[in-house]
Amino acid sequence: MKNMVTKITVLLCALLCFTANAKKFENLALTPQMGWNSWNNFDCDVNEDMIKEMADAMVATGMRDAGYQYINIDDCWHGERDENGFIQESKEHFPSGMKALADYVHSKGLKLGIYSDAGTKTCAGRAGSRGYEYQDALTYARWGIDYLKYDWCATENVNPIGAYTLMRDALYSAGRPILFSICEWGDNKPWEWAKDIGHSWRTTGDIYPCWSCEKKQGSWSSWGVLPILDMQDKLRKYAGPGHWNDMDMMEVGNEGLSFEESRAHFSFWCLLAAPLIAGNDPREMSPEITALMTDPEAIAINQDPLGKQGYRYYRDPNREIWVRPLDDGDWAVILHNP
Ligand code: GLA
Repeated sequence: MKNMVTKITVLLCALLCFTANAKKFENLALTPQMGWNSWNNFDCDVNEDMIKEMADAMVATGMRDAGYQYINIDDCWHGERDENGFIQESKEHFPSGMKALADYVHSKGLKLGIYSDAGTKTCAGRAGSRGYEYQDALTYARWGIDYLKYDWCATENVNPIGAYTLMRDALYSAGRPILFSICEWGDNKPWEWAKDIGHSWRTTGDIYPCWSCEKKQGSWSSWGVLPILDMQDKLRKYAGPGHWNDMDMMEVGNEGLSFEESRAHFSFWCLLAAPLIAGNDPREMSPEITALMTDPEAIAINQDPLGKQGYRYYRDPNREIWVRPLDDGDWAVILHNP
């Protein structure tokens, strides 16, 4: 009996120690992450040929060399879970398998990201990770995934801190460094609790390709660039190296914004130390948009190692001044006529 109690105690200790040691992977986003994501332009229409073409385009356009590192497949890559509960990619859209795709993306000097959800279903109704967190994390690690965007649909009665911590721990124990991008739209103020859980957290609902609109989507709204900027008020103190306020994937270059609006949108994302995740089609970028998105000075401001988010310093009805302190003592400034 005594022997058994000792065994149980050792086992419990092992479990507790294991959990206590789990943490987020450090040093993955000392400056805001840069990459591309499929959702803004392609919605559910994702497949392996298109992702390979994106990788090729990111090399050909100079985006990779400008710092864009991640190619992120958003919602809808999923197939069914197998009989043991392991998630599989859609065989129709990813017939060579996610591992082969990751190998291809890696061979181009880029990294591959994927999407899941803390609830039972993703926002587009695919299988969520709830109850499968450790299995899913293990699968992503085996595939060679480098980035996980983790959404918040179908999470009735789920505690956000618990759910995101659980996936953080699952990723950590799977052993492959995976950047953890929290996407719960700012509903539960993740800036107050997610610093040690994820590398970034969405601060708002979804972006929409317009300058100042609110696009009603039934029970929720998506937002143009200006309303998203207004929603960042008072959040800058929570951002810093390794943990960023995420203002959502960019609409730069997408239909709905003029070139000037795209340029202002990109400038603001740089000044606000936002993750720079392109949401356009790099295979078909105009030379102006390519030059804008690969502008070395703007990117250097976004990637400034001091990691201080910029802010609105002055506002009157005709103009605004936004500033950001930089590592070398300089300040980046945007003069904006709203
Ligand atoms: C949510 C997210 C979006 C996108 C979609 C996919 O709306 O906020 O960024 O990932 O789900 O269904």
